Amino acid sequence: MGYDRCIQILSVLLLCGASWAQGPVAAPAPSFTPADAIRIACGSASDVKIGTRVFLADVQGTGQGVAGRTNQNNGALSAYAPLLTSARFFTSAFNYNFTVSPGRHWVRLFFYPFAFSSFQPSNSFFDISTKEVGLLSNFSAVTFVTADSPYFVREYFLNITSKDLVLTFIPRSNSYAFINAIEIVSAPDGMVQGGAPTLGGGSLTYPGLSQSALQTMYRLNVGGGTVAPDDDSANLSRTWIPDTPYKLLNTPGVSVEANATKITYTDVAEYIAPATVYASGQALEDNDVANANAALNWNFTVDNNFTYLVRLHFCELQYQRLYERVFIIEINRVAIYQFFDIIEEAGAAYTPLYRDFMVPMINTYPKINVRIAPDRSNPNAKNVLLNGLEIFKVNNANSSLAGPNRIIEPNTTSGGTQTTNSSSSSNLGAIIGASIGGVAAVLAAAALVIFCCYKKKTKSDKPGAPSHWLPLPLHGSSTDHSKVSTSSAKSGKSGAGSYVSSVPSNLGRYFSFAELQEATNNFDESLVLGVGGFGKVYKGETDDGSKVAVKRGNPRSEQGLNEFQTEIELLSKLRHRHLVSLIGYCEEHGEMILVYDYMANGPLRGHLYGTDEAPLSWKQRLEICIGAARGLHYLHTGAAQGIIHRDVKTTNILLDENFVAKVADFGLSKIGPANEVTHVSTAVKGSFGYLDPEYFRRQQLTEKSDVYSFGVVLMEVLCARPAINPALPREEVNLADWAIKYHKAGMLDKIVDEKLRDTINPDSLKTFGDTVEKCLQERGIDRPSMGDVLWNLEYALQLHEASVKGAMSSLDQGNFSTDSDNSHMISVPLVAPNLFDDSLTMDIERRMLEETASEDQSASAIFSQLINAQGR
Ligand SMILES: *[C@@H]1O[C@H](CO)[C@@H](O)[C@H](O)[C@H]1NC(C)=O
Ligand SMILES: *[C@@H]1O[C@H](CO)[C@@H](O)[C@H](O)[C@H]1NC(C)=O
Ligand SMILES: *[C@@H]1O[C@H](CO)[C@@H](O)[C@H](O)[C@H]1NC(C)=O
Ligand SMILES: *[C@@H]1O[C@H](CO)[C@@H](O)[C@H](O)[C@H]1NC(C)=O
Ligand SMILES: *[C@@H]1O[C@H](CO)[C@@H](O)[C@H](O)[C@H]1NC(C)=O
Ligand SMILES: *[C@@H]1O[C@H](CO)[C@@H](O)[C@H](O)[C@H]1NC(C)=O
Ligand SMILES: *[C@@H]1O[C@H](CO)[C@@H](O)[C@H](O)[C@H]1NC(C)=O
Ligand SMILES: *[C@@H]1O[C@H](CO)[C@@H](O)[C@H](O)[C@H]1NC(C)=O
Ligand SMILES: *[C@@H]1O[C@H](CO)[C@@H](O)[C@H](O)[C@H]1NC(C)=O
Repeated sequence: MGYDRCIQILSVLLLCGASWAQGPVAAPAPSFTPADAIRIACGSASDVKIGTRVFLADVQGTGQGVAGRTNQNNGALSAYAPLLTSARFFTSAFNYNFTVSPGRHWVRLFFYPFAFSSFQPSNSFFDISTKEVGLLSNFSAVTFVTADSPYFVREYFLNITSKDLVLTFIPRSNSYAFINAIEIVSAPDGMVQGGAPTLGGGSLTYPGLSQSALQTMYRLNVGGGTVAPDDDSANLSRTWIPDTPYKLLNTPGVSVEANATKITYTDVAEYIAPATVYASGQALEDNDVANANAALNWNFTVDNNFTYLVRLHFCELQYQRLYERVFIIEINRVAIYQFFDIIEEAGAAYTPLYRDFMVPMINTYPKINVRIAPDRSNPNAKNVLLNGLEIFKVNNANSSLAGPNRIIEPNTTSGGTQTTNSSSSSNLGAIIGASIGGVAAVLAAAALVIFCCYKKKTKSDKPGAPSHWLPLPLHGSSTDHSKVSTSSAKSGKSGAGSYVSSVPSNLGRYFSFAELQEATNNFDESLVLGVGGFGKVYKGETDDGSKVAVKRGNPRSEQGLNEFQTEIELLSKLRHRHLVSLIGYCEEHGEMILVYDYMANGPLRGHLYGTDEAPLSWKQRLEICIGAARGLHYLHTGAAQGIIHRDVKTTNILLDENFVAKVADFGLSKIGPANEVTHVSTAVKGSFGYLDPEYFRRQQLTEKSDVYSFGVVLMEVLCARPAINPALPREEVNLADWAIKYHKAGMLDKIVDEKLRDTINPDSLKTFGDTVEKCLQERGIDRPSMGDVLWNLEYALQLHEASVKGAMSSLDQGNFSTDSDNSHMISVPLVAPNLFDDSLTMDIERRMLEETASEDQSASAIFSQLINAQGR
């Protein structure tokens, strides 16, 4: 059971005063009736009824400020017209005081900027705050409206600790403040938990979320229609709108729907979201994921320099059994789940489930991208599903939620205000997102956004877009989009060097498209080995009978293009026994295809957990780790400039038919720092649970980031469980944190893979654990180099083999066979060969040389570096 579910059940039990004696099975939460439901029609002399909600005449404001009305109602106000056509205007500071019961409340502020008397909307700049938090600052409501969406609602989620809520309006000098309506509704305590996993690893929970003030940015009924306030669960009067305005159009999605009466709330309380939200979702159109780029994507513009709470709602509506729908969930390209099965998480179909994540957006590109894609390493995983999504802004260190106004540019073409490029559609989205507008208004605006997005898309996504994907030296600046063949293409960069001679020699063989068609049985779906953002990988067989993996990129995917370019640029420079090797490529017909050695045993993860494969022995596991470490060590030190892999994880370590490990997937790799700089500054990418916390904090990439990720891989290999498993009790969720605790307590043996138990030599395990601990140090400079890690893994293997062979006699003469000497050996410097028994040291060196001999020359150069490294 997920820890947040535990907390939730606990809070439900506390809420209804139930005791544990009633048994551990949580009953569905009772329906919640808000203690406070305060609604004010500001500036109005009479009550206004909107559906079942009654907004009271604004008695409180009487005598202060100016009540104003307008006749302007172009129809877009819809059902809200009677509420919004009145307002109260203030030219000096003013408080609205409300008596409430302490606890969480939704606070909604309605704005319809209209001209009245001398009050011109473009002249209005003001602040709104409560005693605890600033809500709006230098706020200009008129910048947030358009002709089609002339009003909007700002919704806040405040934890009110005293008995009164005071909303203070302060106009800026020579300006005025105004408000059309206010709604305050109590919310159940369980709406937001104390914390949630934070994107970027490090600390698992976000501190202080229970005290934080939130602002609703988006609330979507994914795959469904608008849920109006009167149809919300638990009388919370929220509005859920369709996701279509935010969905990127690259992959068509399809709505999946079920009868809402089938939804059964078990662990999740009904107030979290209504059944109508859980009863619809978006999935991929094609159940077999024929589209190489198969993934659903949504983008949300947010204000920079805030942290966001992203809540994803799931409910399985189509499958009944486990592992029929397994997918990857990414936020901003960080995989937060590698292996997400809704039924596994929720316990059954038609059972609501949600997951929260904290996403810091500090000084970055202010868009939150949510992406769900089928798990490319799992051939049974056919599709994806998302049912609902909410994004909340969390107040910053200055206790403020205020973001900037929208920037309006003078309109260039037809009517309506035009806004600056990137923020336009999404800010409009934010307005719609918070709008409690009538269905018609929302749909009209949504249609507008879709239209805008569509226009934008078609502009930038012209057919015949890049057909050239090979790295620049070939024909980077060529503008000829026609087919390029090896014989006719010219270098666009300079007259010198023909196409052929500028192809990096290691690019290998040139395949014709026809050859690859034949090799893969015309890209037969049954030969698909995996699918990723870049396209599909097929199993193939070349004319000489050798097995290959054929990676066919989608030329229309810009992401794929970049990753392909990175990969080929790197691979053309690299060749190593422990790196997946490139055999050749094809670029006919605008295709971008790379051909690799076929790895018969697939990803390492597939041999660790969640499979029926025979378990790997400890020796095999060590050898695989050593192989991968060797590959990474080569990346870091072998090329002229070190290469940082950036996405080290168990799915990126592949095994050939002899279980030799090869590091794969260089799509995210970066060329490492040149000698004088010590880091590469870059946007954070990688996979949740493997990310170096220092890299995340400082956005500075070093080789030590790979060392951290590799430390997580080592633990995964030892314990046979995912790096992050939110379904486990809180302290176990993050493998790295949890396992290190056990190791420090000298109890690592308690958590090793059951299938290995009692087969590992304790000294070998200790060496392994010490090595991982070093890799997982908070600070990069405290982590060992990959060469040191490699040495220690070799040592762990030697210890194990020696014990297995019963050859302890030779070891006993050494000074490392007792515990104290072992810890000595591991303490700084991590590798101190002089403390080793000479014969063992030589044995390790011999093994390393043997390995190296089978690699190419550059690899042996590394070995000498490794030897030198010991001197440091
Ligand atoms: C409203 O609250 C403010 C701040 O707490 C206080 O100064 C003011 O007297 C209150 N006004 C009324 C009418 O209660
Ligand atoms: C308030 O915002 C407006 C435009 O949105 C800007 O021109 C003005 O400088 C701002 N004032 C302050 C004090 O930040
Ligand atoms: C509100 O904040 C207080 C502390 O200021 C905390 O004890 C309480 O749990 C919070 N309430 C909710 C519902 O988060
Ligand atoms: C809404 O509130 C009314 C009382 O005001 C209550 O009878 C009803 O059960 C509530 N609805 C839900 C879904 O909680
Ligand atoms: C949904 O199920 C209920 C109860 O089984 C049934 O009465 C209702 O007609 C169904 N609605 C639709 C749209 O099928
Ligand atoms: C975000 O904060 C950084 C400094 O931490 C600052 O340089 C940047 O201008 C801020 N961005 C915005 C949009 O406020
Ligand atoms: C969506 O957001 C991602 C991540 O912030 C960004 O890289 C991408 O360019 C955005 N796409 C669009 C179409 O806005
Ligand atoms: C907090 O306020 C201070 C002073 O006004 C300002 O310098 C700082 O940038 C603000 N910090 C954030 C995170 O907005
Ligand atoms: C914006 O467009 C409207 C309608 O076409 C026009 O009346 C108005 O003058 C334009 N405003 C500017 C600043 O160009």
